[in-house]
Amino acid sequence: MSTIDLDLSGRRALVCGASAGIGRATALTLASMGCGVVALARREDALRALLPELTEAGASDVAFVVGDLDDPDSLADKVAGLDVQILINNSGGPPAGRLLEDPTSKLVAAFRRHVLSAHVLVQATLPTMQRAGYGRVVNVLSTSVREPLPNLGTSNTIRGAMSSWSKTLSMELPPGVTINNVLPGYTETERLSSLLDDHAARQGVSVDTVAAAWRAVVPEARFAAPSELAGVIAFLCSPAASYVRGQSIAVDGGRTRAL
Ligand SMILES: NC(=O)c1ccc[n+]([C@@H]2O[C@H](COP(=O)([O-])OP(=O)(O)OC[C@H]3O[C@@H](n4cnc5c(N)ncnc54)[C@H](OP(=O)(O)O)[C@@H]3O)[C@@H](O)[C@H]2O)c1
Repeated sequence: MSTIDLDLSGRRALVCGASAGIGRATALTLASMGCGVVALARREDALRALLPELTEAGASDVAFVVGDLDDPDSLADKVAGLDVQILINNSGGPPAGRLLEDPTSKLVAAFRRHVLSAHVLVQATLPTMQRAGYGRVVNVLSTSVREPLPNLGTSNTIRGAMSSWSKTLSMELPPGVTINNVLPGYTETERLSSLLDDHAARQGVSVDTVAAAWRAVVPEARFAAPSELAGVIAFLCSPAASYVRGQSIAVDGGRTRAL
């Protein structure tokens, strides 16, 4: 009988943006698969509170790193010696706004937080992936890789850059080390709350009105729970996903119309 191999015991993951939202849910799901977890974010109190939950979920070992993805030059030292085979590149999305009105400083900041940090972290963790003969990189991007979203100009731009960066690396990384992207749709996190607030304020309507309009364009007719993203991310980290490479997988309840 053939079975699906989702066992991550003996592996360790570095999960960025693990103090909240999709990153936190991903850390917990990986823990439930027996993986060791190193949680990285800026808020130390939230990371500290997460560790016992990770242990309870089944993580083989747990640790945290207080780190700032806005400062890519600091990251290699922060993660040196961690011995991880799985890297989740995930952080906070750029603030909303129309691209025409965005200053270059906003684009540069987003490039640093997303592309440069992910780049430094891949370079820093690749040696331990190669030594293990097992590597998984999963980048949490957005459906705007397929269809740019209104009022998210800098975010749309940076997701395109990340997706191109990732596809290029999928051709350069050695066999056994895969890289893939997960593209969230509307997911119930702090990020979604702040986007709903921003859109409601710009349109002069209530948050409930905006939320209802957003749900109406999702064939599943609801927002995602962070755990629904985490399940797909964790699958891509598993042995079962060994032949999935260089792909962008939307987890959006069917909202994106692009083929
Ligand atoms: N939620 C959605 O509906 C949705 C839809 C499409 C795409 N996305 C994208 O998916 C990704 C994750 O979204 P989310 O909804 O989970 O976001 P979230 O709830 O805002 O959580 C973001 C996480 O990233 C961490 N973070 C932010 N800036 C950081 C920095 N400079 N250095 C280190 N850690 C940092 C935050 O922790 P600290 O504050 O403790 O550092 C937090 O743990 C984002 O790129 C987002 O734009 C989300």
